[in-house]
Amino acid sequence: MSKNETPTAVPPDVAARAARLRAEINEHNYRYHVLDAPVISDAEFDALLNELRAIESQYPELITPDSPTQRVGAPPAEGFAKVRHAQPILSLGNAFDVADVRAWRDRLVRYVQQNLDGEDDLRKLDDYVVEPKIDGLTVVLTYADGIFVQGATRGDGLVGEDITANLRAVRSVPLALRRTDVSAVPARLSVRGEAFMPIADFEQLNEAQRAAGERTFANPRNAAAGSLRQLDPNLTARRPLRLLCYAIVDFAPGVAGEAMPRTQWETLGYLRRLGFPVSDIAQRFDDLEAAIAYCTSYIEKRDALPFEIDGMVIKLNDLDLAQRLGYVGKDPRGAIAFKFPAREATTILKDVNITIGRTGNIVPNAVLEPVHIGGITVANATLHNYDDIARKDIRIGDRVIVKRAGDVIPYVAGPVVAARTGRERVITPPTECPFCGMSLVRREGEVALYCPNADCPGRLDRAISHFVSSGAMDIEGLGEKIVAQLIEAGLVADVADLYALKKEDLLGLERFAERKAQKLLDAIEASKRQPLERLIVGLGIRHVGEVAARALADRFGSLDALIEAAAESPEALQAIEGVGPVIAQSVSEWAKRESTRALIAKLKRAGVDPRQAPRSAAGQADGPLAGRTFVITGTLSQPREAIVAWIEAQGGKVTDSVSKNTSYLIVGDAPGASKINKARQLNVPMIGEEELRNLAR
Ligand code: IVH
Repeated sequence: MSKNETPTAVPPDVAARAARLRAEINEHNYRYHVLDAPVISDAEFDALLNELRAIESQYPELITPDSPTQRVGAPPAEGFAKVRHAQPILSLGNAFDVADVRAWRDRLVRYVQQNLDGEDDLRKLDDYVVEPKIDGLTVVLTYADGIFVQGATRGDGLVGEDITANLRAVRSVPLALRRTDVSAVPARLSVRGEAFMPIADFEQLNEAQRAAGERTFANPRNAAAGSLRQLDPNLTARRPLRLLCYAIVDFAPGVAGEAMPRTQWETLGYLRRLGFPVSDIAQRFDDLEAAIAYCTSYIEKRDALPFEIDGMVIKLNDLDLAQRLGYVGKDPRGAIAFKFPAREATTILKDVNITIGRTGNIVPNAVLEPVHIGGITVANATLHNYDDIARKDIRIGDRVIVKRAGDVIPYVAGPVVAARTGRERVITPPTECPFCGMSLVRREGEVALYCPNADCPGRLDRAISHFVSSGAMDIEGLGEKIVAQLIEAGLVADVADLYALKKEDLLGLERFAERKAQKLLDAIEASKRQPLERLIVGLGIRHVGEVAARALADRFGSLDALIEAAAESPEALQAIEGVGPVIAQSVSEWAKRESTRALIAKLKRAGVDPRQAPRSAAGQADGPLAGRTFVITGTLSQPREAIVAWIEAQGGKVTDSVSKNTSYLIVGDAPGASKINKARQLNVPMIGEEELRNLAR
């Protein structure tokens, strides 16, 4: 229906209402998707949008390109059109360490001295802005008189693809510039930003893809790229894409408008005022060393960010100087990427071997063509479980993506399907335990296969290594290799056998001389005096970590009393603070096992039977941390026990795993990815040690 055929005049009050609704909805959208600070409920938002839709369907002539009803349109008939960028979309040079960054500044100094304005420009060198280098895709958003008219990919830097319809569907892309905080919007503005998918959303998307039997993405970057390059913007709209903007690539002032910002720092502020999402961790420095320190601090802090970064970018703040410095190839001289150690690489999966965990879980391990990732050589990686292998369709002979992050065990994220030759072999799960031959089982609700044999020899090395580890009996000098030697020589068949070792036994082993043997025997002897809670940890009861072990030790005072109570009723255990139904069930099963009783008797005969006065359940009812539950991940400034004791003294509680009841996740150095991810999923706030201390003030 065109205007000419139906000259229905739009009543002025309806037109005004539509304009007001548009402005209001765009503002709420901005508050929700850019500021993360909505002021109305989703239902109220939908009501406004529905009202606008109703008006627009009656009077289509009221539809404007920046109307929030226009976020999702029809797919283009044939692929994406090409777009020539107003200015080349440059890349960035890389620095891989601190020395590279200093060398970058040295080069700038020389360049300025030789080619530019000496003193004045030299002074401007010591003014930097540091921003996160988001691992996403460059996009260029263009606005004419404040209205979003075009969105493009970077392409080859000169010509990109027109993905306007898809970017429109990304909620943090402003459809119209905000006018409230500027005197006038520019007549023409092109902004550069990075589109990406937050990690938690990426994981949720993969979960949903899996459930629907659709293909999963290897990383958030691929997921974002795949989502933006959908021909159908309806699909893009359903993907949780985000945007952060950091540069102006084209600018023409509006009538009586503001001039283009002259520094990077002002640019970020200006973009923010216009309604663009801008990183809130960008910072300004007047000293390169401080800028470098800020960058390196993110090597560890990056795990706590909601999105992936592959480094930080250091930019000269003075944009005019940056412009005059020009570029080398595609890299501007005035900025540099401080790249973090890589976390993934591709290599060939040569084979799969099986190890068995402490609790009998079967773990398929990848045997890889060795590959360097972030400074170490990786030849083995976990494949998690056989369901995961099947879902990702990982085959022997595949080129695979291997990832490692912090102290997380390297894992195979997925195959590079495009690199297949046809000679790859499908991986089939085993049906019997390769160590004891027993039929493998699957526990309700779990993906792993288990060997049900509690005494399976395949578990022994893990069980012993765990028993002697620093959080348990803390027996120094018993590394994995020696444990393997002891088992191999038939000297230990369970943890109690450690206490029967004699010097002659050890001297018979490779690389064992008198002194080393004596030291080890002393350490074993000393471990008999470890407190009960450490022995309980060391026994490796499923689901029982340090915190639960401590609660059990406090309550029962001896192994005998624990076994007695646990075998009788798991319910009694549940009354203990820090012991839930899962732990109680597991301890009860453990206590009932014949092999458990035999082992405990053997330990007692060897003199391992720590005791303490049993205590009834009582916590510190007040104290500044009362009522709060904490979980710790990573290394803190003091041993974990000391931190736990401190929190408890302040009235707080510490548990082993993140749940909806967790008040805070305390994040130390090299934190574990699974706890961080869980906290993100459940919106549990993450804090550092300093913030923890502040909470108790
Ligand atoms: S500045 C001339 N800033 O990193 C401006 N780039 O490896 C050059 N990137 O292609 C880019 N976050 O896609 C800049 N805060 C940021 C960035 C950033 C991510 C990407 C960008 C660029 C790539 C270079």
